[in-house]
Amino acid sequence: MIRDSTPVDRNLALELVRVTEAAALAASRWIGRGDKNAADGAAVDAMRRAFDTVAIRGTVVIGEGEMDEAPMLFIGEEVGHGWSSEAGGPAVDIAVDPLEGTSITAKGAPNAIATLAVAQPGGFLHAPDIYMDKIAVGPGLPEGVVHIDASPAENLRELAKAKGCDIADLMVCILDRDRHKAIIKACRDAGARIMLIGDGDVAGVVAVSQPEAGVDLYLGSGGAPEGVLAAAALRCIGGQMQGRLLFEDDGQIERAKGMGITDPNLIYSVEDMARGEVMFSATGVTNGAMLRGVRRGPQSAVTHSIVMRSSTGTVRYVEAHHNFALKPRAFIA
Ligand code: FBP
Repeated sequence: MIRDSTPVDRNLALELVRVTEAAALAASRWIGRGDKNAADGAAVDAMRRAFDTVAIRGTVVIGEGEMDEAPMLFIGEEVGHGWSSEAGGPAVDIAVDPLEGTSITAKGAPNAIATLAVAQPGGFLHAPDIYMDKIAVGPGLPEGVVHIDASPAENLRELAKAKGCDIADLMVCILDRDRHKAIIKACRDAGARIMLIGDGDVAGVVAVSQPEAGVDLYLGSGGAPEGVLAAAALRCIGGQMQGRLLFEDDGQIERAKGMGITDPNLIYSVEDMARGEVMFSATGVTNGAMLRGVRRGPQSAVTHSIVMRSSTGTVRYVEAHHNFALKPRAFIA
């Protein structure tokens, strides 16, 4: 339930880009260096420092973990200089993934991004750090054209019918994991084409709503926090998504109850995961279908970001040229 209906300030969108840019710039120093923890740590530190310059009273609801296991951007942490200044600023809930794709950054492989989303207090599903089964399609299709409980063949048949094409024309994006062998086979048997991604299912889900990405359907399981971030993006850019938490034991179900999740079998829609006014920002770390990665020179760097708001549906792509001689250290790391 939305606890505060105060609209989120429109100028905040551009402030948020600076935060994901800072995380991406910091992570980019670690591309291909084989140390995913260092890359993640650099992104987390930079994102935390950049938040300190934004006039909000933010509370992290999807973050790097519980307070005792994550030094920064832990669930419940307060971020934004609105907490310490008289100016205040809107109260917002924040979902972050400072480096979505730690392993791919360490390998220099495609698809890593720095990302965050902001909602009015109470706007995000408080997703535990477990897997979520996901299915997503882009905008402009009949409501319910695909369903998480239907087989890949049924979903592909309905989607092809709705798009007026053959199943062979459809592209399905799936995380390349052994646990997805059956759905990969089922999609191939049905005649669809498949884009297997090594990591990074926020970008994978969002791709269904970006015509230039050429993805028609997203299928498979990945992190539940990443599911909420992807839902926030779809709230802004359009598209349908369903997600169901995949609990491995009773302990996980009990923990989720403490986070307000009473029905472990519930199927979440985009609106269930990201309600009210929502903003989403992401900056590319390595090149991907959604964004170009950071291009660094000795004294400068170029970043490519996407930022969007649910209330207007405006999607902005921001190419920023950063001059290290003039930029505050907080934004270079
Ligand atoms: P990291 O940033 O933690 O490396 O996560 C990347 C990612 O691919 C997510 O995009 C995805 O939701 C999750 O990992 C999938 O988990 P797993 O690697 O266990 O299949």
